[in-house]
Amino acid sequence: MAYPDFNMEHQWLPFTPNRSFAQNPRVFVAADGMHFTTHDGRQVLDGIASLWCVVAGHNRRPINEAIKRQLDTLDYATAFQASNDQAFKAAEMIAAMAPGDLNKVLFCNSGSEAADTSLKVALAYHRARGEGHRHVFIGREKGYHGVNFGGMSVGGLPANRKAYGAQLLPRVDHMRFIHDPIGHAFIHGREPVWDEDPLLELEQRILPLHDPSNVAAIIVEPVAGSAGWYIPPQGYLKRLREICDRHGILLIFDEVITGFGRLGTPFAADYFGVVPDMLNFAKGVTNGVIPMGGVLCSQRIYDAMMQAHGSSPEHAIELFHGYTYSGHPVACAAAIACLSLYQQEALFERAGQMGRLLGDAVHSQIKGLPHVVGIRTLGLAAAVELAPAALPGKRAFDVFMSCFAKGVLVRPAGENLVLCPPYIVEPAHIEQMVSVLAQVLREYA
Ligand SMILES: Cc1ncc(COP(=O)(O)O)c(C=O)c1O
Repeated sequence: MAYPDFNMEHQWLPFTPNRSFAQNPRVFVAADGMHFTTHDGRQVLDGIASLWCVVAGHNRRPINEAIKRQLDTLDYATAFQASNDQAFKAAEMIAAMAPGDLNKVLFCNSGSEAADTSLKVALAYHRARGEGHRHVFIGREKGYHGVNFGGMSVGGLPANRKAYGAQLLPRVDHMRFIHDPIGHAFIHGREPVWDEDPLLELEQRILPLHDPSNVAAIIVEPVAGSAGWYIPPQGYLKRLREICDRHGILLIFDEVITGFGRLGTPFAADYFGVVPDMLNFAKGVTNGVIPMGGVLCSQRIYDAMMQAHGSSPEHAIELFHGYTYSGHPVACAAAIACLSLYQQEALFERAGQMGRLLGDAVHSQIKGLPHVVGIRTLGLAAAVELAPAALPGKRAFDVFMSCFAKGVLVRPAGENLVLCPPYIVEPAHIEQMVSVLAQVLREYA
């Protein structure tokens, strides 16, 4: 397809510099396996699983066929006051994969909706138990929980505060970020051991300030993905779990990125051995092929909500929440096919194995190159942090553009370049991604 064959006047591109895009458009028209085809006929290696989504690679037959079959069987059905067979099956499979008593799935359509859903469940749960005064949410600096008002509020991105700060949720606080650029700039496949305790601030300042009895939930990404793959210090999540338990606070893991195998285990909760009260997912649940998200809730939360309504009339709705497309049969059919495929091909284990290769390659080939001030690898993901330039983010953006020109899609995130390929990645692809990034960094100097 030639460039003039499409008109770029009418799409307002999300999270993209629209003014400059047309000068150097990056337009995909086909994809297969690890590669895209661009409008001008080039092959580009998908080094970021299309934003952490396409974990099984592109154009997977079993997923495509499940979707086509479902379209011909039950295209759509309302989600309210009724359901569909695919939604029950998908929920059963997701719950079976999840750790602990994370047994109940509330479906939605994206990670942003999952964030807001989990926050609303936290408020509803506490109210149902007679603790409706628990309103405070705690997130973390640089956290990303999507673009809706709840998720933006508990998220910790300065750009969101700049543009939308006037109307974010009022009773929200944030823990400090989990990065030590001096002591642990380079992290290779394991959690860093910190001398200090980053959660003392939560215990000794934030919780006393709000009074812990007012706190509804704490939400974190187990590994801070969108900010640039920041890995928690050893023991951090276990200690967070203990603090939450001590004060009756719900712990929410946002696993939109880490869920479905990125760390070599089904969820980061498994990797770190910590079970949250709610776990948000999206992206990999359908290999990104069709929008879907959800919140896995503990049986305890569900039971409490049902018990609280024990004396309500039978037609009363226990949780006043849902989306028109919650549990969409086609998305659920895709999810069922994906989860089966992940198991059949042992893709999560493969992510762990390939992650070790990626970590070794990035550390050995990129450490010491110009501007590189940090490298963090864990699971099948790596971040290369560059020293900030005069214009924030410019250096990473330029590197991203040069890598694209050389046929590799990497992700600029602040001052970081992130690699997080599909789990079907081969050693040769890893070599290509890392050597192109290294070459661009050398040239950029
Ligand atoms: C941790 C996390 N939460 C939420 C979201 C938002 O997901 P979506 O873009 O599907 O709304 C993302 C997206 O990258 C994410 O990384």
